[in-house]
Amino acid sequence: MKKTFYLTTPIFYPNAKLHLGHAYTMTLADALARSHRLREENVYFLAGSDENTQKMVDAAAKAGTEPIAFLDGIVQNFMKLYSSLNISYDQFIRTTDTRVHWPGAQALWEKIVAAGDLYKKEYRGLYCVGHEAFITEKELVDGKCLDHGTVPEELSEENYFFRLSKYAGALRQKIESDELRIVPQSRKNEILSFIDSGLEDVSFSRPRRANWPKGLGVPVPGDDSQIMYVWCDALANYITALGFGRDDALFQEFWPANVHVIGKDILRFHAAIWPAMLLSAELPLPESIFVHGFITSGGRKMSKTLGNIIDPEELIETYGAEAIRYFLLRHISPFEDGEITREGFKDAYTANLTNGLGNLVARVMKLAETHLPKPVERPKAEHFPQEYWDALNGYEINRAVDMVWSRIQRLDERITNEEPFTLVKKDAERGRALIGELVIELYWVGRLLNPFMPNTSATIKKAVLENKKPENLFPRL
Ligand code: MSP
Repeated sequence: MKKTFYLTTPIFYPNAKLHLGHAYTMTLADALARSHRLREENVYFLAGSDENTQKMVDAAAKAGTEPIAFLDGIVQNFMKLYSSLNISYDQFIRTTDTRVHWPGAQALWEKIVAAGDLYKKEYRGLYCVGHEAFITEKELVDGKCLDHGTVPEELSEENYFFRLSKYAGALRQKIESDELRIVPQSRKNEILSFIDSGLEDVSFSRPRRANWPKGLGVPVPGDDSQIMYVWCDALANYITALGFGRDDALFQEFWPANVHVIGKDILRFHAAIWPAMLLSAELPLPESIFVHGFITSGGRKMSKTLGNIIDPEELIETYGAEAIRYFLLRHISPFEDGEITREGFKDAYTANLTNGLGNLVARVMKLAETHLPKPVERPKAEHFPQEYWDALNGYEINRAVDMVWSRIQRLDERITNEEPFTLVKKDAERGRALIGELVIELYWVGRLLNPFMPNTSATIKKAVLENKKPENLFPRL
C-alpha cells in the first residue's frame, strides 16, 4: 500500500480577488504536494473558500449582487488563478456547500456537545469583521482595530461557548512533545506562550440575524436561532472535505492530516482552537502545522486593506507562472517575512532564469542535438539526494531549491572549464562522452525541479529524452 499524504491550505475569504500573499501559500503547498507525489505517495491536496461570513454579506451588498452569485464569481476567479499557477489541488471545498460541508460540520458540533464542551452564555464584546473574531479593548488604537483600521461592532448576544480552557494542558503537552509538530520553532514557542498566558473559552455561535441571507451559515444542530461561528465552521472543512459525517471512506484513508499549511496570522486558530476541537470530539490530531511568514510590500504586510497588493495574474502575464513559482519558493524564506518588489523580481528573472537555467538548457541541448547521434540512455533508478528530502521534510523549501541552483552552477562551471564545444572538434569520442555526462546532469536538474517548476521540469526531461533543444524557456524581456 502506498503511503498517504494529506495536506491542506487555508480556505480564503472570497470577498475579493486573491493577491500574491495568497498565491504564496498555495505555491508552497503545491511544492510540498508535488514533492510527495515524486516520492510516489498517495497525495490528497485540499483547497477551498470560507464563505459563511459577515465580510461576504457586506461585499455582496456593496457589489449589489445576491450573495451566493457573488461568491460563485469570486470562487471561479480563485480557480482560474490556481490553474494558471499550476496548483495541483485534488478538491476545492466551499463552506456554503450544504451537501459536502454542512453535515460534517454539524456532526463535529454534536460530538463536541456530547463531550459537554459547549454551553450557552450571554456575551458582550467588540466584534471585528476584518478578523471575523471578537477582539479586546487592549487591541484597539484610537478605538480602531490596528490591523484593519475599522471601529469594531459592539455586540451583546446569547452564544454557545466552547470550553477551550479545558484543553490548555493537553494542548501544551501535545505541542511541546511535537506530537503536534509546529514548524518553525519560533511559532511553536509563540503558541506555547499563548497557551501559558491562559486560554479563555471562545464564542462558537452567533444568533441568526433577520437580514442574514439564506444559504450562508451552518445552522447549529437543534437550535435554529443560531449559526455556527465562522471559524468553528471553517476549521471543520479539513475533515468535512474528506466526507466526515457523510461518507467516511476518504476520511478513513487520509485523516489525520500530515500538514496544515497556514500563514502566521492564523496560528492560534489552527494550533489552539482546532486541535482542542479535535480532542473534544476524540479525533486524531494533525501531524504538523507549517506556518509561513508574510509577503510584504513597502515593508508592510501585503493586503487589500493596506492597498499595497501585487496581482499575481499581472506577474504571470509578464513572466509566466514558472518564474513566479521560482521566485516565491527560492527568494522568500518560508519562515520569515519577505519583501517583494517588481525590480527584485525582474533582476532574479534575468540573472537566474534567463541567463541561468534557460541559457544552460539551451547550451547543453544544442551541443547534444548537434553532436550526439541518439538520445542519452535514461538513468534506470531515480536518485534524489537525502539532503533534498531533509530540507523538504523540514519545509525549508528555499533550501531545496537552492540545491538545484548549486547544481546548475556546477554544470555551468564544467562547461566553462572543460569546453565541450572545443573538445568535440579535437576528439569526437571524448567530446561526445563529456556532452553525454552534461546531458545526464541536466536530466537530474530537471527531475529535482519537479515540485517547484513542474513545466520546466517536464520540458527538460522531454528535451533530454528526445535529444532536442527546446524553445527558449525564459525569453529576455
Ligand atoms: N478564512 C480564513 C482561513 C480559514 S482556514 C480554516 C482566512 N482567510 S484569508 O483570506 O484572510 O487568508 C489568510 C491567509 O492568506 C494567511 O494565513 C496566508 O496564508 C495568506 N495571506 C494573506 N496575506 C498574506 C501575505 N501578505 N503574505 C503571505 N500570506 C498571506 O484567514
